[in-house]
Amino acid sequence: MSAGRLITIEGLDGAGKSTLAQALHGELAKRAARVELLREPGGVEVSERIRALVKDPALEVSPRAEALLYAAARAQLCEERIAPLLAAGAFVLLDRFVDSSLAYQGAGRGLGVVAVRAINDFATGPIAPARTLLLRIEPALGRLRLHERAEQPDRLEQEGEEFFAAIAAAYEELARAEPQRIRVIDAGQPPARVLADALAALEDLLPAGPAPSSIGPR
Ligand code: TMP
Repeated sequence: MSAGRLITIEGLDGAGKSTLAQALHGELAKRAARVELLREPGGVEVSERIRALVKDPALEVSPRAEALLYAAARAQLCEERIAPLLAAGAFVLLDRFVDSSLAYQGAGRGLGVVAVRAINDFATGPIAPARTLLLRIEPALGRLRLHERAEQPDRLEQEGEEFFAAIAAAYEELARAEPQRIRVIDAGQPPARVLADALAALEDLLPAGPAPSSIGPR
């Protein structure tokens, strides 16, 4: 059985990651036999509970504790879900992964990318994305889109402009350092164009033609 592929989606809050993830999931399902969509922090019980904790606006969480909580949620998801899926040959589409911690905790919280990368290396072991789609959006536009959603902002979304500017700059730096893995997509475009750009950025990883299960009996 062939090894699967991990594809991650990154970007600022309000960039449209979840919308793209759902649309991509539908498209990839036509091309690959098994595609799973997961999100971070979350995807398994332990990590969903950490999600609730770390996003709770009523809590004060220190930057180091925050980085470790995200890494803990990630470690559990990798071991419980992602590793078995990849071993079974699945495509795993993941809404946020280590780059989120590098950008949000490393740059946004000022912990430094090197330190945050180290705890995440420990958390993820050998699991690494084959490709990362970075949705690039002006921080102000991302904030505007967030405010348009009726939901109450979570603990991180309540942060100020400087926090998001630092995150946006860190994402750009990560993309410059790894252009083969991280493909930047203009998230200011209409959703259909964002999806088309994402598919083009994944083309070389996808099997040609429809999924084997949809070909039918010979
Ligand atoms: P989201 O799933 O709605 O994007 O919420 C996740 C929030 O957590 C979002 O504000 C980004 C933040 N986050 C980090 O700060 N570090 C991380 O490693 C991850 C996965 C998310």
